[in-house]
Amino acid sequence: MSEQAAPQHRQITVTEHLLLHQKQSPTATGSFTQLLYDLILAAKLIARNVTKAGLLDVLGGTGEINVQGEDVQKLDDYANRILIHRLQRTGVLCAMASEENADVINIPDAFRRGEYILIFDPLDGSSNIDVNINVGTIFSILRRISPSDQDVALSDVLQPGYKQVGAGYVLYGPSTMLVYTTGQGVHAFTLDPSVGEFLLSLSNVKIPETGKIYSVNEGNVSYWDEKTALAAASFKGSDNPRGAPYSHRYVGSLVADFHRTLLKGGIFMYPMDYKDPDHPKGKLRLMCEAAPMSLLAEQAGGMASDGRRRILEIIPDTLHARVPLYIGSKNDVQHVINKLK
Ligand code: AHG
Ligand code: MN
Ligand code: MN
Repeated sequence: MSEQAAPQHRQITVTEHLLLHQKQSPTATGSFTQLLYDLILAAKLIARNVTKAGLLDVLGGTGEINVQGEDVQKLDDYANRILIHRLQRTGVLCAMASEENADVINIPDAFRRGEYILIFDPLDGSSNIDVNINVGTIFSILRRISPSDQDVALSDVLQPGYKQVGAGYVLYGPSTMLVYTTGQGVHAFTLDPSVGEFLLSLSNVKIPETGKIYSVNEGNVSYWDEKTALAAASFKGSDNPRGAPYSHRYVGSLVADFHRTLLKGGIFMYPMDYKDPDHPKGKLRLMCEAAPMSLLAEQAGGMASDGRRRILEIIPDTLHARVPLYIGSKNDVQHVINKLK
């Protein structure tokens, strides 16, 4: 079971939590803590605008199409610009990569550079913005592998997920929550808007081994292969780890669907589909969506797979590589892997 936070007067802030973990880890340096601190500041600025979205002129599209071929929403663009602006001056990054940018984002010469690489989905679930449904920011942190006196190479960024030194997300929901891991468990914080601080809500979050909820866009069933359709359908009957029908929930924002899966258990799936009959593929992006969520899932005792391989072991071939994703409770994910064989 996840550990509940202390009563309000004893609650600890995310900054205190980071410093505590930094002290406990002999290799940790202040620069990693600085990175998370600046990321949190950017997230608070995004949260401020997301919660006022209906009041400001921030709803709707910019009229542009991003590198993924999708409409860019004004808030996508805003969140992306905030993150790049704040994080390029943090002094600890040597590069960034965003869902919204085709190429690696270099740190301008005017700023100090460091060892870390930040990869992010600035606003996840952006098709839900206009209807006031949860969205989020997802992040993944890597350490460069090439020597620091050389230019950062694409191979520094294209590392498998198990190399992440940190990962997490901020969920802009009824309350704003930060969930992160640095490889020492998963911890969840809630933004108290009255003091502007993220306060610890749950430490050492653990995903139940078997859940009661399955989550998938079942409208895509006619684009799936037969085994995928049978695997999804198995959650409606009794041939599944629970031995009884699961409830179905699907928000359509990965951050929200994953957050529920993390806390309640069950499985979230975005299978490979044949929307393009010649090029079957998954939709979710390996580096800025699947890999960070998979590190969180494993740190919480869960599992993440593309149906055959552990997500964290997949070596990305491009910055915007996509993968099928099956993530959540260990028994539910293993069940689907067995069905896909
Ligand atoms: P983004 O808004 O960053 O492009 O991500 C959208 C993703 C993800 O949040 C969600 O799980 C998935 O798209 C939903 O896709 P469908 O609408 O195809 O179900
Ligand atoms: Mn996304
Ligand atoms: Mn996005």
